[in-house]
Amino acid sequence: MNTQGTTPIIELKDIEVEFKTRAGSILRPKKIKAVNGVSLRLMPGRTIGIVGESGCGKSTTANVMCGLQQVTSGQVMFKGKDVTHRNAKDRMRIGRVVSVVFQDPATALNARMSVQDQLMDPLIVHQTGSPEERARRAYELIDMVGLPKSALNALPGQLSGGQRQRVAIARALSLKPDAIIADEPTSALDVSVRAQILNLLSDLKKELGLSMVFISHDIQTVRYVSDEIIVMNHGQIVEHGDARQVLTHPQDPYTQLLLGAAPSLLHPTAAECAPAV
Ligand SMILES: Nc1ncnc2c1ncn2[C@@H]1O[C@H](COP(=O)(O)OP(=O)(O)OP(=O)(O)O)[C@@H](O)[C@H]1O
Ligand SMILES: [Mg+2]
Repeated sequence: MNTQGTTPIIELKDIEVEFKTRAGSILRPKKIKAVNGVSLRLMPGRTIGIVGESGCGKSTTANVMCGLQQVTSGQVMFKGKDVTHRNAKDRMRIGRVVSVVFQDPATALNARMSVQDQLMDPLIVHQTGSPEERARRAYELIDMVGLPKSALNALPGQLSGGQRQRVAIARALSLKPDAIIADEPTSALDVSVRAQILNLLSDLKKELGLSMVFISHDIQTVRYVSDEIIVMNHGQIVEHGDARQVLTHPQDPYTQLLLGAAPSLLHPTAAECAPAV
């Protein structure tokens, strides 16, 4: 039976994630619920945008989706299999299928490794291909993200922020994942290159048929790439729906606030561009 189109790549069922905070005593540590009752399904080929202000639980949710964070309660399904209490083998399987692009490419990349070695590294870890095949894949990847072949010999420090993020995206694609989780992939970048990186992700998604989770605190940024939008506030989903529906007819007052109040970080307003006096 072909379940490709109907089985979510990742499904979260009513998950909660609690952290101990530094406040409170050793005997009675204070806890914070970073994620509180979140359910969602990432379907093949779809992009979910997750928005909400700082600290609302976006990254924690993303980390659960890519297998980096355990849940306190609820269920995590990966391609129909329960991986809530995953083992090392599950982690490896998830890592092959779900890649992550982080906010700051400078920290995501190893400063002392050439771009070529960084691109081949996941292939070596997952024992994929021969050395020649890995080198060919590195070349393919650098081309895919719109960088010249010469970039393969560079160290991350020799590249611009935008170019580094392209390398991080290429690395995320090296194992031919089904899904990419991009956690604020443009917010550490100069305004002038944000749109280019967004376009690149959007093009790659279409070309490769990827699923994507795109996280931002800027609702205007996610609107360009998302099929669905999830709005989070204080660890909970306050609105979830078709992107156009959420943007044109927001139901929740918090979404209305985000839409009304937030100036776009992608396209700064005239006031933001004006020189400071
Ligand atoms: N490892 C941790 N230990 C303790 N508290 C944590 C930890 N990770 C996150 N938190 C807390 O959980 C809450 C949610 O954090 P999270 O990073 O998921 O938010 P976010 O929406 O990604 O925010 P931002 O937009 O700033 O990245 C915050 O209050 C944060 O301080
Ligand atoms: Mg975050």
